[in-house]
Amino acid sequence: MSTQDVEPLNVEQIREDFPILQREFDGNQVVYLDNAATTQTPEPVVDTICNYYRQTNANVHRGIHHLSQEASIAYEEAHDRLAEFVGASGEREEMVFTKGTTEALNLVAYAWGLNELSEGDEVVLTEMEHHSSLVTWQQIARKVGAEVRYVRVDDDGTLDVDHARELISEDTEMVSAVHVSNTLGAVNPVGELADLAHDHDALIFVDGAQAVPTRPVDVEDIDADFYAFSGHKMLGPTGVGGLYGKKHLLEEMEPFNYGGEMILRVTKEDATWNDLPWKFEAGTPLIAQGVALSAAADYLEDLGMDRVQAHEEEMAEYAYDRLTEFEDVTVYGPPGDDRSGLVSFTIDGVHAHDLASILNDHAVAIRAGHHCTQPLHEKLGVAATARASFYVYNTREEVDALIHAIDDARQIFA
Ligand code: ALA
Repeated sequence: MSTQDVEPLNVEQIREDFPILQREFDGNQVVYLDNAATTQTPEPVVDTICNYYRQTNANVHRGIHHLSQEASIAYEEAHDRLAEFVGASGEREEMVFTKGTTEALNLVAYAWGLNELSEGDEVVLTEMEHHSSLVTWQQIARKVGAEVRYVRVDDDGTLDVDHARELISEDTEMVSAVHVSNTLGAVNPVGELADLAHDHDALIFVDGAQAVPTRPVDVEDIDADFYAFSGHKMLGPTGVGGLYGKKHLLEEMEPFNYGGEMILRVTKEDATWNDLPWKFEAGTPLIAQGVALSAAADYLEDLGMDRVQAHEEEMAEYAYDRLTEFEDVTVYGPPGDDRSGLVSFTIDGVHAHDLASILNDHAVAIRAGHHCTQPLHEKLGVAATARASFYVYNTREEVDALIHAIDDARQIFA
């Protein structure tokens, strides 16, 4: 999308909702560029959490009293809200609340994978998967004797779709792919991967942790069988996220966790399962978190996800252009005008952790390390990268502050 096509975000006004951005460390105002790890929480979301505990708090689906009824309705409607936010027409029945993307992956890998995969089957991942997908499928595949195969990442940091075409075969049962890479900023053609999977009677799980916060997502348009995201990367609280699943698949699957809430009837010998999505939400669920996540979705929708995407892309392109002015800086992933809102880079002769530490002296917050993508870093030939990631409240001036701090680090290590 061209950043010219939509009205720019009013970043100055947005920043008023994030008092944390006014914090100073040793006289420097914080420049928060670690949004791919977690985003900050706007006042309306904080208010929703506080008001929930001040006014509504009760357990859900258990009490015949006003507070429990109110909490139940708010929690159920939060599922409908998040389903709508990602384009799921099946509403709450297709939206399971989990702790986040990692738990969603584990849920499907255990509840679907352990039962449906067997020796000789293949699970196709990409080389840019986050450990949450990579390690989970590796372990499940090991338990059932299935094989994990990886779609190559090209030298330009994009997915080699021709390789995906070669790899996905009649033996493939599951394709699990990240929508937006948390290291490269590459946006994968997940709709095309879904078609490839379905052509071979396989399913596709899309890890949308970096996509749902940063662009309009429509799970039905993608034709994803499962699609997961994390609340804390989209202005919501920690400890909650969503798993979209096609209704017939969720219905066929066995539960992941057992206990209260997920049952319909229990005898000494056996039990039957509750309706969707509660069948997958054992125990007291993520009530306050889910209600707050719904407020985060409202906040983002008020901004407009197309405008959020345009802002992300503008920030990434500007950062990419400024970083590539330095001859000793390598930026990983696709070009600046073809990536989501993050840039991972290295500076010749400077370890990413040392760089992050010097940037911290300027109160510039970035992430340094392997970003939970060790095999991808191995492929890139580096143990660690520095990563700046942007969100709705970041400005070009903050990118300039990043560049200024990087220049300082370069002088120190020169
Ligand atoms: N997956 C998160 C990141 O990329 C934690 O930082």
